[in-house]
Amino acid sequence: MAKGTTSCFCFLSLFLVILAFHLAEAAVPAIFVFGDSTVDVGTNNFLPTSQAKANFLYYGIDYLGSVPTGRFSNGYNCADRIAKLFGFRKSPESFFHLINETGSFQNRSFKKRILQGVNFASGGSGILDSTGFQLFTNVVWLREQIQQFSTVRGNITEILGPEAAAKMLSKSLFLISVGGNDLFEYQLNVSKNDPNLPQAQELIAILSSTYQIHLRSLYDLGARKFGIVSIPAIGCCPKERGFGNGECNKEMNDLAQAFFSATDILLQNLTSQVQEMKYSLANLYEISHEIISNPGASGFTVAQTACCGNGSYNAQSPCNLDAKLCPNRRDYVFWDSIHPTQRAAKLAARALFNGGANYATPVNFSQLVED
Ligand SMILES: *[C@@H]1O[C@H](CO)[C@@H](O)[C@H](O)[C@H]1NC(C)=O
Ligand SMILES: *[C@@H]1O[C@H](CO)[C@@H](O)[C@H](O)[C@H]1NC(C)=O
Ligand SMILES: *[C@@H]1O[C@H](CO)[C@@H](O)[C@H](O)[C@H]1NC(C)=O
Ligand SMILES: *[C@@H]1O[C@H](CO)[C@@H](O)[C@H](O)[C@H]1NC(C)=O
Ligand SMILES: *[C@@H]1O[C@H](CO)[C@@H](O)[C@H](O)[C@H]1NC(C)=O
Ligand SMILES: *[C@@H]1O[C@H](CO)[C@@H](O)[C@H](O)[C@H]1NC(C)=O
Ligand SMILES: *[C@@H]1O[C@H](CO)[C@@H](O)[C@H](O)[C@H]1NC(C)=O
Repeated sequence: MAKGTTSCFCFLSLFLVILAFHLAEAAVPAIFVFGDSTVDVGTNNFLPTSQAKANFLYYGIDYLGSVPTGRFSNGYNCADRIAKLFGFRKSPESFFHLINETGSFQNRSFKKRILQGVNFASGGSGILDSTGFQLFTNVVWLREQIQQFSTVRGNITEILGPEAAAKMLSKSLFLISVGGNDLFEYQLNVSKNDPNLPQAQELIAILSSTYQIHLRSLYDLGARKFGIVSIPAIGCCPKERGFGNGECNKEMNDLAQAFFSATDILLQNLTSQVQEMKYSLANLYEISHEIISNPGASGFTVAQTACCGNGSYNAQSPCNLDAKLCPNRRDYVFWDSIHPTQRAAKLAARALFNGGANYATPVNFSQLVED
């Protein structure tokens, strides 16, 4: 009996140590994640008709237990890495996963888990409601993701009460990484000679004003700390190199840079209207371009070819069990034809968290939590 008591006590104190560690470590109460495949942790596993899926090998080969989770990576993605820098183990689970696992909204486990955040991101989605449907049949578009957050907010309010819920949400990180798919979709439309297509400049203006509406919706739902990740140098991903002579696609990179500048302006505009908003805008274009143009500096040897795929730059066929797989994944910047390896995602997350003004503006992600 004495032995039982001791081990029970040890178990309890271990639990308390872990709890204290978590409380001491996590810099924010919760993280809510929105956007596309750069931060999706399995949302699309629950969309039977969606073609934007990563719940099969070789995806996940370097994840714990080599399990494909729906992350578009060989392991963890940018959302996981950012969550980790904020003191969590990885990204919160996807909204659909939480509901599926706990059976219902009424489940006590569901209630407990949403207090640490929820991931709503869906691979293939964009800022525009229409983005993703042409290429992937079905995605959860950003407007819908925000609608789902609104439900969760209602649940949190029910659990904590209105005042504590508002306080908790105001201290939480709202991580948003979106926009790349709108540019890919635009590129597809251009290739089809769609006559109603806006000019590039007009497209950026449409994306930016739509983005502003979405961010304002989140603010109105209680979000205060925004970590916004801009579009990477998508013109340099293996898919874009495979289209041409192996060089980066300049039009796509120009669009990504223009999107960053427009987002910078829209955030200045938005914060001038809503006083309590605090944001960090990560310049993922700059971060990724630097890694790709000088891979050796960060210990990579391959920055043009994908690790998993086939054809030129391994970008002509999908990453799955029939694809070629590189053995030395730490040497590669790109995992598949558009997504980074977990190592590249980790470096990017570190840069936006701790980096200088060229990586994140007006403050970096770590400074978002200072009061
Ligand atoms: C949903 O939950 C069921 C029962 O636990 C499980 O068998 C199924 O794999 C889950 N669905 C997904 C897409 O994870
Ligand atoms: C609630 O969720 C937990 C954890 O997923 C599960 O084990 C349990 O069976 C669920 N309870 C009910 C009543 O559905
Ligand atoms: C969460 O919100 C939904 C929609 O309002 C509701 O059906 C559900 O019962 C809520 N769950 C909890 C645990 O409050
Ligand atoms: C591309 O074309 C589709 C179909 O016409 C349209 O719904 C969508 O809004 C367009 N998207 C972009 C970014 O041009
Ligand atoms: C600032 O935002 C308002 C809408 O809230 C919009 O009408 C205006 O055009 C924006 N200004 C700039 C410079 O983007
Ligand atoms: C890759 O493509 C080449 C040429 O089309 C083909 O011969 C080869 O079998 C493919 N490799 C794999 C692993 O699919
Ligand atoms: C970024 O974050 C670190 C703290 O993690 C801080 O020391 C540094 O000054 C910040 N850099 C800039 C340029 O704000």
